[in-house]
Amino acid sequence: MYIRSKLEREFPFFLIFKAFQEKLLFLIRFFQSPETIGSIFPSSDALTSKLVTQIAPSRSPKKYLEVGAGTGAVTDAIIKKLGPKDTLDVVERDPALCCLLKNKYKNPNIKIYEKSIEDFEESDYDGIISSLPFNQFSLDFVKGVFFKYLKMMKPGGFLSYYEYKYPEVCTRLLTEQRQRLEKIRNFKTEVGQKFDEKIESVWWNLPPADVRSIQKKGY
Ligand SMILES: C[S@@+](CC[C@H](N)C(=O)[O-])C[C@H]1O[C@@H](n2cnc3c(N)ncnc32)[C@H](O)[C@@H]1O
Repeated sequence: MYIRSKLEREFPFFLIFKAFQEKLLFLIRFFQSPETIGSIFPSSDALTSKLVTQIAPSRSPKKYLEVGAGTGAVTDAIIKKLGPKDTLDVVERDPALCCLLKNKYKNPNIKIYEKSIEDFEESDYDGIISSLPFNQFSLDFVKGVFFKYLKMMKPGGFLSYYEYKYPEVCTRLLTEQRQRLEKIRNFKTEVGQKFDEKIESVWWNLPPADVRSIQKKGY
């Protein structure tokens, strides 16, 4: 799906240079906007491969949504698993990161939207993969996004997202907002209990994370 340019094919070091450029851009955007970017490093392969386990080959075309693509670490993992007729919508609010994504992914099956998920109105997704740093946001925002995701998913569709382990440690140091975190954690647990949540640890990521996935009932 991701077609390599002639330059990348002939000069493999150019790929390394591009990967470095992407990490640098991610880091710069983190320092400019830490609350919305939410982490210093893009997700590891170990994390991204766990996030996309529910994308499976299928006879009928599937429609997927990725939210908060950053420099495309998760997008790459999704694309590897897409069938030829599957489609992927990518929503990323950061203009610089969005510009990178639009240059990187030119396949007509992949659409990149430069907007906040709050302003994105599409539905009927077979799967939603979200990298939003929920622990950085207000409880109302988190609730709004979860209800939106549930509305956007087809019955039987899935939502996968990750959260970093031990958020209190970072948050106490940075913002001292433990109560807000506690409420967000309780809300996510409530949602998880309603939708048969599965949680898997990924230690090989900086910071280590939990991948959580739920399924919308009612086939
Ligand atoms: C933790 S980074 C994840 C980047 C990438 N998916 C990864 O795992 O390496 C979170 C991303 O979500 C984006 N983001 C934050 N708030 C958003 C919103 N309301 N709508 C869409 N994207 C948002 C940020 O710009 C950032 O790129």
